[in-house]
Formats: sequence, C-alpha cells, structure tokens
Amino acid sequence: MTTTLIDPAPHGRAWVNEALALLEQEAARSADTHLLRLDFPGFPGIAFYFKDESVHPTGSLKHRLARSLFLYALCNGRLRQGQAVVDASSGSTAISEAWFARMLGLQFIAVMPACTAPQKIHAVQALGGQCDLVEDPSQVHARAAQHAAEGACHLDQFGLAERATDWRGNNNIAESILGQLRREPQPVPTWIVCGVGTGGTSATIGRYLRYRRLDTRLCVAEPTGSSYVHGWRTRDRNAVASQPTRIEGIGRPKVEPGFLFDVVDDVVEVDDAAAIAGALQLESLFGTQYGGSSGVNLIGCLQLASAMRARGETGSIVSLLCDRGKRYQETLFDPAWRAERGLDIAPWQAAIARTLDTGVLAAPVTA
Ligand SMILES: Cc1ncc(COP(=O)(O)O)c(C=O)c1O
Repeated sequence: MTTTLIDPAPHGRAWVNEALALLEQEAARSADTHLLRLDFPGFPGIAFYFKDESVHPTGSLKHRLARSLFLYALCNGRLRQGQAVVDASSGSTAISEAWFARMLGLQFIAVMPACTAPQKIHAVQALGGQCDLVEDPSQVHARAAQHAAEGACHLDQFGLAERATDWRGNNNIAESILGQLRREPQPVPTWIVCGVGTGGTSATIGRYLRYRRLDTRLCVAEPTGSSYVHGWRTRDRNAVASQPTRIEGIGRPKVEPGFLFDVVDDVVEVDDAAAIAGALQLESLFGTQYGGSSGVNLIGCLQLASAMRARGETGSIVSLLCDRGKRYQETLFDPAWRAERGLDIAPWQAAIARTLDTGVLAAPVTA
C-alpha cells in the first residue's frame, strides 16, 4: 500500500497562513464603531443615528474594506510574500490599505488623483506607502492596472469591494448597525442613508436588509449630478456625471461595477456647498470634525426626515460619519479654499439651522 503525503504547507502557503493570522489578530483587537444618536426639535418622533466610522484605526469606513480586500486577495491566491500591492483610491482606502500593507510587510503603491487632499497623501506616505499621483482622475484605474501588469497585486477596490465584503454577516457595517439599534425605541430604521464610491457599502447594506427581511429602505445621498444619480434613475451603467464634485470618496464620474442599482430605493442629490455646511453642522453637533461625504449624508437625512414629517410619519434614520474632517483642513474647512472655488456655505448653514428647528426643508437664501 502506498501513502500519498500531503505537503502541510504547499509552496508559499506558510506566509499566507501567517498573513491571515495577522489579519485575524487585528480584527480581534479592534472594537466596533459607535452608533451616535441625535434628536432635533423640528423632528419629533424621528430619531437620527450616525455610525461613526472615523474611529477606525485608519480613520474611515475604508478600514473595513481594506481588511476585506487583503483577505480576498490572500484567499484567492493572488497575494504572495514579497509582492507589492497597488490600488486606485481617492485617499481614504489608500490610507487603510497602506496601514494593512505595512502590517503584512508589503510594499504599497496608491494611485490617486493629484487633487487629493494633501493630508491624505501625507498619511499614506507616513505609513510607508508610495503615492503615484495622476493629473486626470479618470486615469487612476488604468495606472493601477499598469502597476499590476508589472507584477503588483491589484487590490482593486472598484472591481472587488462589492464581493470582497461578507454581506451576510461577519459584523459587516449593516449587521453592526442593526445590532446596535436592538434596544432603541425604533430598532428597525425607516431609512439607511449612504454615499457611493465603489458601491461596496450600499451593496452590503442593501443586500443585508433583504437577507434579514427588513422593511428598511436604502437611500443613496450623492453630490448633485453624480454618475450614480443619473445611472440609478435611468438604469444606465454607462451614465456619467453631469458636473464634478469637490467631495472626495463619493460622486464618481462614472458608474463603477460594484454599484447595484436594484438594492437602492431612492437617490437624493446634495450640492457641494450644502455638504460642506453639513460637515460644519456635524462638528457643532458632535464636537468632532467629519469629512464632506458625512455632510452629504446629514443633508440626505434631513431631506428624508422632512418628507417623513410632512406625511406625519415617525421612525428612525441611520447614516454614516465616513471619515475624519482633519483630512480636509486645507480644503473643505479652509474658508479661502472655498472662496477661491465660489463655494458659499453661509446660506446653507442658515437653511440647515432652520430645517433642524422647523422640520421643514429650508432652501438657501442668498443675499
Ligand atoms: C470618504 C468615502 N469614501 C467612500 C465612500 C463610499 O463607500 P463605497 O466605496 O463603499 O461605495 C464613502 C461613503 O460614504 C465615503 O465617505
């Protein structure tokens, strides 16, 4: 009788095992992010919740994604010891990926638009990552693919975010939110609101709501005229943005492959000036600065809440605080930067204050 000996660690697998163990240890050391509650005088009977994703070690919701992308690459046999890692990003994902790459002892290349907030570029570099800055933002995917052709492992957040995340559970963002709402008066939210970059977050939330058979609807809040707004309304995957946005991370110029139209129940549009005013409002509400996409989310919540109030509905609305505002000190939070770009936020600040007080969506009034 002959016995076939199975190699206990086929070529290269010992390192993969070690890398997977490191990722598992990191997850075990990490705490969940907070779900913060707000109530406003204008919206009696409507509770607002904000999932603070800025408290992840790398400062944004992309910490979850970066961990999933590394796991996905390792478990698909695409990432090997000593291999460089590359991805295209508007910055937040790159920071998280640089952090995990350093943890695994891998070289990391971030392909980012040259206009990315300087603090994000510095954060990637501080973590040992290399930034390949591209003048034309529409070229980031092509440049990342070029690095991959030269041997780097392409983490490919835009191609893989939607499938690398465990949408049925494993404490994904939707499972975490719903678990944290368990003891609240309205534990099943009326709406969950989020923006779209890769489409991974909206896909995970939308799928999980169906999987759990909940009536909660998913609303995508996007910069005015983004590709996702047009694409969702016309169901056209070739839709493009009708105007650019200054809000990083969301509002893509074209519909990315991970955006699932069919799990989204509504889409609302938010002007850049309103989003920045929203971010400043969040700072006064929470005492912490969050980025522009969090401002978009706040305005999206107010649009939905005022419609609920007009219909006499009560319930709860959940959204995300996606990343730290500190990253945008030289951009969104700098009055001179805003003035140079004609972004007048004062009328929006007044409109937000009126909306919070009255529950009726107020339009900005310019002098
Ligand atoms: C900074 C930032 N990046 C990305 C996203 C979108 O996430 P995803 O890439 O999962 O669609 C958001 C969402 O709100 C965001 O705020």
